[in-house]
Amino acid sequence: MTGGGSSVPEVRALLRVLATGRDVAELGSAFGEGAAAMAETARSVVTVEVDPKRAAVARRRLEGMPTVELLEGDWRDALRGRGPFGLVFADGGVYDWDAILELAEPGGLIVKDDLTPGRAIDGDPVREFLLRDPHVTATELAVTPTMNVIVAAKR
Ligand SMILES: C[S@@+](CC[C@H](N)C(=O)[O-])C[C@H]1O[C@@H](n2cnc3c(N)ncnc32)[C@H](O)[C@@H]1O
Repeated sequence: MTGGGSSVPEVRALLRVLATGRDVAELGSAFGEGAAAMAETARSVVTVEVDPKRAAVARRRLEGMPTVELLEGDWRDALRGRGPFGLVFADGGVYDWDAILELAEPGGLIVKDDLTPGRAIDGDPVREFLLRDPHVTATELAVTPTMNVIVAAKR
């Protein structure tokens, strides 16, 4: 599955803070804007994009950044056996929460953006997992009037 644009500046500002000093995995690079923001503060960033055309754009944006690794393919294959990561930015269209949790170290953070404010938890698989699963502690924050994010920590 491909689609979705770049993360908004408010989310990139949050990611810069949360990535500080951490090894980061980004699921869905799109055009590399989120990875470039996190690379400003992270110890390392591995970012994965399934769409070859998007990956090519991201590669150009990220070339010359020594702490960034761009992988092309489905993150579920590309990141198998990698990690654990201190921050996982789950932005890749496929939300296999068990696999995402597996990528995070204990105490590691998982970030999900693009949430519509005001929606119920019930019936929303993203919120049901991140806000209720006993393996994570999480909070939902407004980053713009029309977008919330969830920041979760793996217990
Ligand atoms: C919302 S965009 C990512 C934006 C980017 N994280 C940023 O901060 O600018 C989602 C991207 O995930 C990619 N994607 C979807 N499914 C994927 C998968 N299984 N593995 C890797 N990338 C995937 C899409 O092609 C799309 O470019």
